Amino acid sequence: MKKKLYSIEEVTRKTEIVVGRNLADQYLSELGTQVKGLVLIGEGLFSSNKEQFSKFISEKKWIDFKIIDDAEINKRFRNYQSILKLLHLSQIERRSNVFYFGGGTVSDLVGFACSTYKRGVALTGFPTTLLAMVDASIGGKNGIDIYGVKNLVGTFYLPVRIICDLDYLNSGNDLQKQGLGEIVKYGFLFDSSVLDDLKNYRSFGELISDHEIEDLVLKCIDLKMNIVKSDFYETSGIRQILNFGHTIGHLIEAASGYKLPHGQAILRGMIIESDILKNLGHDTYEVSGDIYDIVSRYGISMPVLDKVFIHRIAGYLKNDKKINSGMIRMQMITSPGKSENVDVSVESVVRMLKKWT
Ligand SMILES: NC(=O)c1ccc[n+]([C@@H]2O[C@H](COP(=O)([O-])OP(=O)(O)OC[C@H]3O[C@@H](n4cnc5c(N)ncnc54)[C@H](O)[C@@H]3O)[C@@H](O)[C@H]2O)c1
Repeated sequence: MKKKLYSIEEVTRKTEIVVGRNLADQYLSELGTQVKGLVLIGEGLFSSNKEQFSKFISEKKWIDFKIIDDAEINKRFRNYQSILKLLHLSQIERRSNVFYFGGGTVSDLVGFACSTYKRGVALTGFPTTLLAMVDASIGGKNGIDIYGVKNLVGTFYLPVRIICDLDYLNSGNDLQKQGLGEIVKYGFLFDSSVLDDLKNYRSFGELISDHEIEDLVLKCIDLKMNIVKSDFYETSGIRQILNFGHTIGHLIEAASGYKLPHGQAILRGMIIESDILKNLGHDTYEVSGDIYDIVSRYGISMPVLDKVFIHRIAGYLKNDKKINSGMIRMQMITSPGKSENVDVSVESVVRMLKKWT
């Protein structure tokens, strides 16, 4: 097990991040009977880990356990209100213990509810997907989707503790592979050894069963926290570097009606964004070779986008919330592990997208 304490100057609170195996049992066992608590568990996760959660529920009778809706469709105002009600009914105080178990949807929803209830109650998260461990639960951003716009409302709020129990990665479904998109992103942006690490394995099963996964997850958390520490509230623009692949990736997700998984969309997004910058005359590193190598090892199918789809994305781009006076900030990989922000006109990106095949 590896532990690290991060303190952020802009916020007085510290967040502890723990990565290891068999941690959920250990942490919940340490909770004394005098502790007031509420445990919120994502429904899908609960159904696939009934035995473990039933054991917790029967052993810790002084803690409230509640199952909450947890697919992306549930990141809504109605579900946010339901969580506030659970916090209220459980008489949660600012120093009580609220825990969540779930992927990025649960971390966004519960994080938002806990940051606003009584202006902030102590939160401990157990992210249960690879994406949530290396990204969604790290850095204190949360939110809900309203008016059909993803993450339109949210806050920046640091949980007290995030516990990444790697045993949850063994769920055996393809969903867990989606977190690889973010790991690849960290490799390109900040540290090429992350890409080398991924190339040491021949399959996802091999990666998650190796003890080195602990170091890889912690390395990714460290890379993200280094950026978060310098720009917690996203005011200086430093945190925008994390958008690599996400400008086009989010448009791909939206244009597919959110049928295409996040990881695949951002992997394709990284390739398209790099191509656009290259065609606009920037000296970018060719990311596609590394990406195709990694997706073939891990059995991730890359979305094939036809001309009609790309034209639809170009239309969506014009309304992107990141546009500032007709310009959009993109991230350029100069060599693996090195990157910089570049501002380009939306008009030129739309033109390049329409030429993209
Ligand atoms: N706040 C941020 O910084 C940030 C960053 C990236 C992504 N996100 C958000 O994260 C969300 C996506 O998160 P996700 O990819 O983790 O998926 P998810 O949370 O939507 O979960 C997808 C499904 O997997 C199930 N599940 C979760 N853990 C499981 C496990 N161990 N075994 C079996 N099933 C399990 C869930 O029940 C759910 O049905 C999006 O809403 C995205 O906007 C937020």
